[in-house]
Order: sequence, then structure tokens, then C-alpha cells
Amino acid sequence: MKSDIELIDANGKRLDGRTNDQLRDVKIEAGVLHRADGSCYLEWGGNKVVVAVYGPREAIPRHTQDPLRAIVNARYNMAAFSVDDRKRPGPDRRSREISKVISEALEKVVLIDLYPRAAIDVNIEILDAEAGTRCAGLTAAGVALADAGIPMKDIPVGCAAGKIGAETKDGKVSGGHVVLDLGKEEDNFGDADLPIAISPRTDEILLLQMDGHLTVEEFNKAMELAMKGCHDVSKLQKDALINKYAADVEEVE
Ligand code: CDP
Repeated sequence: MKSDIELIDANGKRLDGRTNDQLRDVKIEAGVLHRADGSCYLEWGGNKVVVAVYGPREAIPRHTQDPLRAIVNARYNMAAFSVDDRKRPGPDRRSREISKVISEALEKVVLIDLYPRAAIDVNIEILDAEAGTRCAGLTAAGVALADAGIPMKDIPVGCAAGKIGAETKDGKVSGGHVVLDLGKEEDNFGDADLPIAISPRTDEILLLQMDGHLTVEEFNKAMELAMKGCHDVSKLQKDALINKYAADVEEVE
């Protein structure tokens, strides 16, 4: 979508003052819900996300069971009050799509073969949405799964990069800038968004989607930025888990 907003200035400063390779602030807390087996609260820029994990437990109804492995049911839900215009409650096409791609990404790292006929439920609740909620939700899900003690090859993490500013105020098309972690205006009025999720230990791609157009060079640059963003957020995921378990140990002592 095109707009009159100048998303990036001549000095490469973005609307919120970030440089092209700068993430929004990310805060992560593990183990915030008492009734869930594992949980996480995450803030990423203006996004606020809570994830609750239940399981592994017997998959019900029984026809959903796989005799060889567990199924991972991620359910992404946006609260009605999470967006500017009230969102109609309940699943829609977008939330079904996001639930599906996140479930598939998580199944690539969870050791599902260990739990035949089981289900692992991952409830992702978006309380406040400000662009990049699928990456924020998946990142929080990674922490909540680890907090639930579910065996995984790695803690999955997501981050997006994109392209902004290809069209200037006077309508002329310029090159555009490849930037890390699009904010709300950048997502609404930018030219492309490339959310990815990876296993940071191996850099295996778990999720890759693209909205808009990028040249091959721009795509490679966006991948490089998003990968770096994933690795930076991965450190924060581990810190959140260490903080939670350090606090638990202190309590026991
Ligand atoms: O959130 P994400 O970037 O993963 O997905 P998107 O479909 O590209 O949505 C971008 C943003 O649009 C969301 O983060 C919300 O801020 C906003 N949005 C909204 O305002 N109302 C909706 N029904 C869906 C999305």
C-alpha cells in the first residue's frame, strides 16, 4: 500500500528513530501462568503476547491421534481489543493461516516421535497488536514449550525483515530500504515483509512467508537481517528461561 508518510529519512532514520538493522525493544518472561504446563509473556515493540502450553496429553477426539507421533496444535488468537478497529472475536482466515504455519514450524523442533497419540496445545493470545505478531507469537511459544519441559531440538525463534520507502512523497519510485523488524506504519505502508522462524542452533528455516516484492539481492539482504534478528532474540529467550529457573532455585533454597 502506498502512502504520503515518509517511512525513512535521508539519513536512514526510520519513523521511530531506529536504524535499518535495529530491532524494536523485546522483553520476555517465562512461567507467568500457574495453571498452564508452560507459559510466556512477551512484549515486542507495541505487541503484547501471552502463550500457554498444555501437554503432551492424550489427543482428543481420538481420530486426531497419530499412532507414530504427537501433534502440535498452535492456536493463534487476536483479542477483540488488540487492534485499532475492534476485531470480531473468533477464528478467521488470517488466524487459521497463522495457527497452521506456526504449528508446522513448531513440529519441526519438538521431538514429536517421543509422544505417539498425544497432543501438545500451544495457545497464543495477542493482547496488543502492532505488526509482527506471528513472529512474536512463535517466539513466545518457543519459550513456553521450553518452560513446559517439552523436549525440543532447539528453541524456535522468529523475526521479520522487510522493505520500506520505495515510493517517495511525490510518488516517484526510488530504490527502497531493506530494514529489520517492521513497525506498524512500515508494515501498513511498506513494500514487502518477510517473516521467518529458525532453529538458531542450526539455522534451519522453520517458517518463511513473504508479502510484497523483493529482488533477489533485497531478499538475500532481508534474510541476512532477519537471521541476525532471530539470533539476538534467541539470547533473550534463553535469558528469560534462566531468570525463571534461577528464581525457582532461590525459592527452594
Ligand atoms: O502481525 P503480523 O505482521 O504477523 O501479520 P499481518 O497479517 O501482516 O498483520 C500486520 C498487522 O496488522 C498486525 O500486527 C496488526 O497490527 C494489524 N492487524 C489489524 O490491525 N487488524 C487485523 N484484523 C489484523 C491485523
